[in-house]
Amino acid sequence: AEIRYHKWEVKYEYRSPDCYQKLVITINGQTPGPTIEAQQGDTIVVELKNSLVTENVAIHWHGIHQPGTYLYHAHYGLQRTNGLIGMIQVSLPPGVSEPYTYDDEKSIILTDWYHESTFEQATGLLSIPFGWVNEPQSLLIQGKGSFNCSTLGIEAGLCNATNPECSPYVMTVVPGKTYKLRIGSLTSLEALSFEIEGHNMTVVEADGSNVEPFIVKNLFIYSGETYSVLIKADQAPTRNYWIVSKVVARPSTTPNGLAIFNYHPNNPTTSPPTVPPVGPAWNDVEPRLAQCQATKARQGYITPPPHKSDRVIVLLNTQNKINGYIRWSVNNVSFNLPNTPYLIAVKEKLHHVFNQSPPPNGYDHRHYDIFNPPTNPNATTSTSIYKLQFDSTVDIVIQNANALSANDSETHPWHLHGHDFWVMGYGKGKFDIHKDPKKYNLVDPILKNTVSVQPYGWTALRFRANNPGVWYFHCHIEYHLFLGMGVVFEEGVEKLGKLPPSIYGCGDAKVSP
Ligand code: C2O
Ligand code: CU
Repeated sequence: AEIRYHKWEVKYEYRSPDCYQKLVITINGQTPGPTIEAQQGDTIVVELKNSLVTENVAIHWHGIHQPGTYLYHAHYGLQRTNGLIGMIQVSLPPGVSEPYTYDDEKSIILTDWYHESTFEQATGLLSIPFGWVNEPQSLLIQGKGSFNCSTLGIEAGLCNATNPECSPYVMTVVPGKTYKLRIGSLTSLEALSFEIEGHNMTVVEADGSNVEPFIVKNLFIYSGETYSVLIKADQAPTRNYWIVSKVVARPSTTPNGLAIFNYHPNNPTTSPPTVPPVGPAWNDVEPRLAQCQATKARQGYITPPPHKSDRVIVLLNTQNKINGYIRWSVNNVSFNLPNTPYLIAVKEKLHHVFNQSPPPNGYDHRHYDIFNPPTNPNATTSTSIYKLQFDSTVDIVIQNANALSANDSETHPWHLHGHDFWVMGYGKGKFDIHKDPKKYNLVDPILKNTVSVQPYGWTALRFRANNPGVWYFHCHIEYHLFLGMGVVFEEGVEKLGKLPPSIYGCGDAKVSP
């Protein structure tokens, strides 16, 4: 094992990732930022210089656990949306090999891209009337997209279709070879379908876990998820092919993201001779659910889940109104972050800095109609947190419902900090606590850190509360989290040693004791 040092400088810079010039956040001049490569057991040291001048920075090492593909991103306000993101790749120690073979590997991050600044977005989201961010202008593949500048009015001067920064991303492959492609999504809003024209993909990894391989033509990927797929360059080698990302789960106006799958030695900048594939219908839930259900732990790499849980928490996902403001809520509570960090507040027993009463363990499932807008849309805000018994087994059921307007239930990717969880099952409609747990997958559930809940459906997951700390569990849609769609779990904080003095100073956590 090694210690690997990285020196990062984070700043705002003007860039044109989709030909339209705006401020983006870069790491050492790049967005996505540098890929962190490591071997299992290595220690990574990142020395970060915050050159944002008027803003703080917090980086979240998303999912990091064991060998696999992970992400990192800003976790302060809406900073992630500005491009402060990147990938982490952890390889196996020498002598250990992956349960599949390939000739070479590549990686890409998928994002959605807005021209409006995050300051304007945040202001709109916190206003009456509500100013929704709407659909993004572009989809980026490894930080590159292409906005149609001719659609702009007075801002046309900021858009330059011939700027080399927005030439399509090119992935060059050698005919006949097989590639491992690591794909991560850090979209702010959108669920995506990803495909490479004419090529099947074999899914082998999800969120760092080996998957029992299955073949797809297009891969559905939600914000916060990572996958590895194997692709064989086995099509006619005399031309290039399209790489396409497409919005699903929302009736979006955003054009598809395009990149070039370049068969060596064809010219890498030559557009494929075909019309890019149109991809799946945005509102067809069935193939998305089918992919979720096909994602199971690989034979020989199964970590069986505990057969019983000690506690079940049901989290109803709703859109609500609080004093006329639109918010997202869980069991009718919309989350607000207190000024004092929870970790310090719990450890030092600063009871006054957040609401000490526990948040609801469920909702009134007998009377609540998940298929219609809430009869009483009012919710409350709270800073309260779930206290989990250390080392207990916890089941979480994410229950989707109708949003504020009729016939609208959104897809939410839920991400847990500090743990992997087993995905026990998915279902349609209202979760039945008597019948549905009998259908849980106790044999080969996948371990993930991000999981989707489909419209009007539920998703059940299980984890061991064995990592002392305070952990966020939230919708990975940046704007949903911003509007309160998250909860916090606390477990075993008393087991932690003295907290580093450098983390003191915020809110009422004035000085280290
Ligand atoms: Cu990648 Cu708290 O999220
Ligand atoms: Cu959401």
